[in-house]
Amino acid sequence: MKGKVCLVTGASRGIGAAIASALAERGARVVVHYGHAKELAVKVAENLAGSDHLVVGANLANPDAADEFMESVVDQTGRLDVLVNNAGIFVPHPPMTVDADDWLFKWEQTLAVNLLSPAALCQSAAKIMAEQGGGRIINIGSRGAFRGEPECPAYAASKAGLHAMSQSLAVALAPHGILVYAVAPGFVATDMAQELLDSEKGAGIRAQSPLGRVAKPEEIAETVCFLASSRAEFLSGGIIDINGASYLRS
Ligand SMILES: NC(=O)c1ccc[n+]([C@@H]2O[C@H](COP(=O)([O-])OP(=O)(O)OC[C@H]3O[C@@H](n4cnc5c(N)ncnc54)[C@H](OP(=O)(O)O)[C@@H]3O)[C@@H](O)[C@H]2O)c1
Repeated sequence: MKGKVCLVTGASRGIGAAIASALAERGARVVVHYGHAKELAVKVAENLAGSDHLVVGANLANPDAADEFMESVVDQTGRLDVLVNNAGIFVPHPPMTVDADDWLFKWEQTLAVNLLSPAALCQSAAKIMAEQGGGRIINIGSRGAFRGEPECPAYAASKAGLHAMSQSLAVALAPHGILVYAVAPGFVATDMAQELLDSEKGAGIRAQSPLGRVAKPEEIAETVCFLASSRAEFLSGGIIDINGASYLRS
C-alpha cells in the first residue's frame, strides 16, 4: 500500500476510522472524509501513521455533490488508488409505526447516503482510476441485506443495492483494471450499534454469534486492507461476510 492514495468515506469514527488507521499503517496516504464531525476527522488524521494525509468534508446526503467532492480530492492528491465507500446511516422507521411521509423521507434519506452517493462516487472514481490504469473499490455493505432489518427496511434495501451494484461494477470495470468488492459485516461495536448493544437486547445480539460477541471495527479494517492490497485480485465481485458465523447464507 506504500504511497497509494486511499479515500475512506465516513472516517471520522467507527469502522471508517479503523480502516483509515489500518491503511495508513501499511503505508497508504489516506483521505479522511467526514460528513459533520470535522474535529473528530482531524483527530483521526493526526493519529495516523505516516504523513501527508488529508481531511475532507462532504455531506453525502446530496448525491449530486459527489462528483465535485471527488474532483476536489483528486485536485489535492493528484490520483486515487482505492475508494472505500464506508459512510452510512441507520435510521429506524418501523413500517407499522411511522406515518407515510416519514416512511418515504427515511427511505430517501437512507438511499441517498447509503446507495446513491456511493454509486456516484464509484462512477467518478472509476473514470479517474481507468485513466491511471486501475484501482480498487470496496463498498461496506451489511449482513442486514440478507437477514432483513424489520425496524429499518430502507437500510437493508440500501445495502442489498450496494452489494448488487458492487457485483455489476466488478464485471463492468475489470477491463479497466478496477477491482470491486463488498464486505457485509454483522453487528460491529461502533456508535451506530452502541445504543442497541447497551440495551436489554445487547446480550441477545452478542449471542447471535457462537463466538459470543460482536465484531471490533479493526476486524473489518483488516479485511478491507487485504482487499485493497495486490493479493486479492481474484476476489473481485465477492461479498465477504464478516459476522462471526451469526448468519450463514448459501
Ligand atoms: N456498526 C455496525 O453494526 C455495522 C454493521 C454492518 C455494516 N455497517 C456499516 O459500516 C459503515 C460504517 O458504520 P459505523 O458503524 O462505523 O457507523 P458510525 O459510527 O455511525 O459512523 C458513520 C460514519 O458515516 C458518516 N456519515 C453519516 N452520514 C453522513 C453524511 N450524510 N455525509 C457524510 N458522511 C456521513 C459519519 O460521518 P460524520 O459523523 O462526520 O457525519 C461517520 O463517519 C456503514 O456503512 C454501516 O452501514 C455497520
